[in-house]
Formats: sequence, structure tokens, C-alpha cells
Amino acid sequence: MEITKILVTGSAGLMGIQVVKDLLDNHKQVYSCYNKTKPKLGIITHLDLTKKDDIVNTMNRIKPDVVIHLGAMTDVELCETETELAKKINTDATEILALESEKHNTFFVYMSTDYVFDGKVGMKKENDEPNPINFYGKSKLDGERVFKKITTPNIIVRTSTPFGIHSKKISFPIWVKKNLELEKEISVIVDQYTSPSYVPNISKMIIEIIERKITGIIHLAGATKISRYDFAVQISKIINANKQFLKLTKMDQMDWKAQRPADSSLSVSKANKILKNKPEKIEDSLKSLFNQ
Ligand SMILES: NC(=O)c1ccc[n+]([C@@H]2O[C@H](COP(=O)([O-])OP(=O)(O)OC[C@H]3O[C@@H](n4cnc5c(N)ncnc54)[C@H](OP(=O)(O)O)[C@@H]3O)[C@@H](O)[C@H]2O)c1
Repeated sequence: MEITKILVTGSAGLMGIQVVKDLLDNHKQVYSCYNKTKPKLGIITHLDLTKKDDIVNTMNRIKPDVVIHLGAMTDVELCETETELAKKINTDATEILALESEKHNTFFVYMSTDYVFDGKVGMKKENDEPNPINFYGKSKLDGERVFKKITTPNIIVRTSTPFGIHSKKISFPIWVKKNLELEKEISVIVDQYTSPSYVPNISKMIIEIIERKITGIIHLAGATKISRYDFAVQISKIINANKQFLKLTKMDQMDWKAQRPADSSLSVSKANKILKNKPEKIEDSLKSLFNQ
């Protein structure tokens, strides 16, 4: 089936901006959905994910061939205290969108997270058992569970610590670079591991998935498992800054309401095996980020 209409939720978010931009290279009808932050590209479409009627009416009007559902309440701390709203946005809206997609025979891409895992052991594979330790992870996992009921083609994509360029959301490497250049000391966690994911790399893989209609569950993340501290050291090397301004801290020194997984790195062996676009190593992603 040819892809004509693509609806993207969270289209002004960190990931959404890049995905919409890349989709527009080959597709004309990209519906950029937003609630508060108006996107600049695509067919700009207001859609409040907390309103069932809004979702149903938008899906009935557009009848997209593909939905890429990136919209979410991503603030882990806020999800821990505003659980009702987090459930509404991350779980209930996903269910409504997925059921509407089934009605219209729409291919569905659900963006999930490494935080569905407890982080006791890293490099998790697609079929490993999730066990979230905070409400954000739980609300996203409950979103994943919706797809057990859906009979039309769909895929659950899990990513980890996305980074890239965004006007409001300052990614970790940008924050580190800015502070090191100002010779300002920053505290960086040494005992938390993730698979940092460069947004343009993830976007290419998502687009390949919709073009090839790959279904199931897939981890789309960077190819390098790394601690926050080592990530910052890599950044310092690439920008030729002095790493003496990086101060070690530990997870148990953080004043967090929500628990974080200590190692939420993701195995990307499946993506490596089946995709033409491969997960990038951290050095390559950082070089692209800072050379752009
Ligand atoms: N950020 C991470 O560390 C991380 C890690 C793993 C997985 N993920 C997943 O990856 C996806 C994209 O993440 P991201 O980093 O691009 O997130 P982001 O920058 O926080 O963007 C999230 C988007 O969701 C939209 N949204 C929130 N509430 C909404 C509502 N009620 N109605 C409509 N839209 C709403 C926001 O739009 P408005 O501003 O218009 O409300 C925003 O553009 C999410 O599904 C997230 O769970 C993120």
C-alpha cells in the first residue's frame, strides 16, 4: 500500500521536529499534530491527546495511512506526581489512537521507552520482561500493552535518552558543551547507564520502518552503552574542552521523586540485523551533532 497521509503526534517535540522534517523529503501530506507548541513544518493540526473526541474526530477527518505517535508526557518527575494526567496522555490517548487506527487500517508506530525496564541489568532485548520502577515507565508500558488487542499492523519502538537540536529542550550534549565552554563546573552522574540516541539517526530508522512496514517490537537507540559521566567526557574530547569541569556525582545524591533505572541501555542487535539504516556509535553521532 502506498503511503499518502502520515499523522505525527508530538510533532514540535525533540523527536517530532526531526521526523516531520525528514518525512517531508518524500511525502507531501504530513499532518503535524500539536497541543501547546505549534510546529513549523507539515500540515499543522491541533490535537489535544487528553480529549477523546478530538482524537476520534481528527482520525475520522484525516484517515491517515500511518500514525507515528511520539506525543507523550515525558517529564519523569512530573509523571510521578501528576499520575492521572500521565495516564491520560501516555496510556489512554495511545489506546484511543490505536483503536481509531485499527478502524481506518492505519499502520501504527508507538514510540516507547527504555524506562519500561527496571535497569538492574542493561542491554535489554525486545522480548525481555519489562518492569518499570517509576510512573512514567508504567504509563508507557501500559501504552505498549494496548497493542496486544490491535489486529492491524503496528510496531512498538523503544528508544533511550534521545539527543539533538531543539529550541526549547536542551539535550545533554548541548548542556555539557555550553558549560564546558564557559568553564563552568557541572555535576555529572557516573553510575547511570543508557544508550544515548541521536535523533536524526532514530528518525531515519523510523522512516525505514514505515516504508518497509516492519511490525512487532524494536529497539531503536544508539549503539553505545555509556554512563552520563563518560558521555560528558566524550563530549569534552570532541569539542576540545577541559574535562576538569566535570564533577562526578552518583544517582543516590540526586533529589529525585521518581526512581530511575541504573542501567536502561538497550540492545540494538535486532535493528542492526534487519535495518539498512544502522544505530550509530556515540562518537559518530556527537561528531555529526557538533559539526552541523
Ligand atoms: N525524552 C526522553 O528521554 C525519551 C526517552 C525514551 C523514549 N521517549 C519517548 O519518545 C517520544 C518522543 O519524545 P521527545 O523527547 O521528542 O518528547 P518531547 O520533546 O517532550 O515532546 C513530547 C511532545 O508531546 C506533546 N504532548 C504532550 N502532551 C500533549 C497533549 N495533551 N496533546 C498533544 N500533544 C501533547 C508535546 O506537545 P505540546 O508541547 O504541543 O503539548 C510535545 O511536542 C515520547 O513518546 C517519549 O515517551 C523519550
